[in-house]
Amino acid sequence: MRVKNVIAAMLFFVSILCLSSCVGNESDTANELYVGVTCYDLSDAFVSELLECFKASCNDREITVTIRDAVGAQRTQNDQVQELIDEGCNVLCVNLVDRTDPSEIIDMAREREVPIIFFNREPVAEDLRQWDNLYYVGAYSRQSGVMQGELAAETIWKNKSIDRNKDGKIQYVMLEGETGHQDSVIRTEYAVNTLKEKGIELERLSYGIANWNRVQAQNRMSQMLSRHGEEIELVLSNNDDMALGAIDAYMELDVEETNLPAFFGIDGISESLEAVKDGTMTATVYNNKEGQAEAMTELSYSLMTGKEMKNVKFENGQCVYMDYVKVTPDNVKEFLAREKEQ
Ligand code: BGC
Ligand code: CA
Repeated sequence: MRVKNVIAAMLFFVSILCLSSCVGNESDTANELYVGVTCYDLSDAFVSELLECFKASCNDREITVTIRDAVGAQRTQNDQVQELIDEGCNVLCVNLVDRTDPSEIIDMAREREVPIIFFNREPVAEDLRQWDNLYYVGAYSRQSGVMQGELAAETIWKNKSIDRNKDGKIQYVMLEGETGHQDSVIRTEYAVNTLKEKGIELERLSYGIANWNRVQAQNRMSQMLSRHGEEIELVLSNNDDMALGAIDAYMELDVEETNLPAFFGIDGISESLEAVKDGTMTATVYNNKEGQAEAMTELSYSLMTGKEMKNVKFENGQCVYMDYVKVTPDNVKEFLAREKEQ
């Protein structure tokens, strides 16, 4: 009994101490670190994994997060921003539906002095200059394209059987993300150019725009397959979810293993890491979601508390870009282990 009383008394003192420090200026915000997030479409495989990481890292710092889903409509997203501001959020994290159309959001935030961290869908530089409380957290599109090209070139060198018809050229198809997204255009261009620079002769049979989406990619791939069938030796995809969709198309047709092309994605989402491990996907490029989430959290925290940032490095004072990493069957276990830690 006595021990219990002592503990109770101690707890009481500790809570009084906490309370008095909360009343003090610095921790005034301690209960009010509130970040409002709106994302372009929560059904996006990569963005939803990124947001899971973001929630976890905000949780570690006792930051409250509200996430809204704009389901592909810029109008809806603008309304969500207004609501989040009205609800008193201290920082906004915005994954733009239309990356060329942030002006209305910027105006609303500026009026109430709420800083914005854009993420994953990069506004054009001119828009970022509209106000100095605007930031961007993402990754280097060009680097992901180059790495995908390098991975494909290395595989083709090592594995002569990829050139199935032995004509010295690699017949390929490309699955592209949304038109107008920084990552579609640039990944496509750099993956192909890198392969060419590495001395691989390419012949593009076809391409399909599948808006980052697995089901759309399966449909596009089925159409390409019905036209080109076994001619296809390589499938390059702007992201993993579409590469998985392409694999689905082959699985549905029960194509023999010797007639399967090599599949390359980008992102390193959970399911594609498993696919690289079991060999259905040849390789992918890791889009560092943990790093991006951590940078968004640290930046939000710093904007709300005025505390200095330790790990965030800016480019042009406003942008943070995380490095990509190549994922192959040789190192995929490290990435899978990281997933399990979460
Ligand atoms: C990712 C895609 C994702 C897109 C959404 C890209 O960086 O690689 O998987 O669909 O962002 O904006
Ligand atoms: Ca060939």
